[in-house]
Amino acid sequence: MPLKQLAARVAADFEKHYGRPPRWIAAAPGRVNVIGEHTDYNDGFVLPMAIERYSVMAADAASAPGKISVYDTHFKESAAIDISAPVTKGEPKWSNYIRGVLAGFQRRGVKLPALDIAFMSTVPLGGGLSSSAALEVCTATLLEAATGKTMDPVEKALLAQQAEHEFAGVPCGIMDQFISALGRAGHLLLLDCRTRKTELVPMSDPTVELLVVNTNVKHELGSGEYAKRRAECEQAAKILGVKSLRDATADQLEQAKGKMSDVVYRRARHVIGEIERTIHAAEGIRQSNWPTVGQLMYASHNALRDDYEVSCTELDVVVDIAENIGLKGGVYGCRMTGGGFGGCCVALVKASAAEGIAKKIAADYQKKTNIEPAIFASRPAAGATIVKG
Ligand code: GLA
Repeated sequence: MPLKQLAARVAADFEKHYGRPPRWIAAAPGRVNVIGEHTDYNDGFVLPMAIERYSVMAADAASAPGKISVYDTHFKESAAIDISAPVTKGEPKWSNYIRGVLAGFQRRGVKLPALDIAFMSTVPLGGGLSSSAALEVCTATLLEAATGKTMDPVEKALLAQQAEHEFAGVPCGIMDQFISALGRAGHLLLLDCRTRKTELVPMSDPTVELLVVNTNVKHELGSGEYAKRRAECEQAAKILGVKSLRDATADQLEQAKGKMSDVVYRRARHVIGEIERTIHAAEGIRQSNWPTVGQLMYASHNALRDDYEVSCTELDVVVDIAENIGLKGGVYGCRMTGGGFGGCCVALVKASAAEGIAKKIAADYQKKTNIEPAIFASRPAAGATIVKG
């Protein structure tokens, strides 16, 4: 659903629920990462794009003070958040993404206004497309509208990341919140996670398309595997005597191989290789060299599967099917995207063949797994916006 239509729908839902029209509407997109996986918390590079799937909030000032009410129009569930004191974790579980952002504003000395909010998200939940970052950045953007105070988008992304750390318990890097806050239509975002310097890489060649293939196997980053990978990377950096894996080369790693466990070695091999692949892929995209970008995507997937061990059977099945269709059938490359353990793949395909490719992947995937996937194409979307207010 286009953002304009989605915003109108959430506005109508707000009016139905609260009996008056909303005064502010804010939106923030989910993302797909083209390449640069598990590199952000290693000070490396990432290359995500915002997708045309959004978290949208409509709101108005509430008459009763000290409370923010949030109505989820899809699940028809409400949260009442006490803002008369420092905001804490609470129920329902999804409200913690919002609570975390509210707490971040309070910590920055902002007096929160009492609000009635209705929200809806078209970012699939648990699909590895950053539904949580979209919700966090959307909340922050809505608060900008409601308080009249704009925040630097980098500061906003960092506030949202802190919410994820403290209120959702996921020690994530900065990629998801950055792309949701800073994405630009028609562009990928090359983000240097050490310096936080960003470069917009145009992705407007009409002959190619990115397909997002949701395996419909839910991923759970809170389960501890993510934190474990982070710790293994830190261990590798320590053994190599560098601040982070960003500072290590493949040669250095080979030389130090005997000093670390096989697992730690392989984790580092993925990260060091992936940082290189990301820089090369950005160059390939600037030059519209799609076969090269595609090869880098496959290489990324293989490393995530074998060295980093964050893929799963269903993600591997999708990549296998895509590889079988191959360049002849219009597929340049394919890989799992996001944290892993389920969720989505991203495929770079010829636009003219995209529809047929999506159908073929869906049919073969269902045959092999008995699961119906969800497949959609997305152009690079804009980052968070105030739609009304
Ligand atoms: C999750 C995290 C990101 C990043 C990816 C893996 O999406 O939120 O910060 O680490 O996993 O690349």
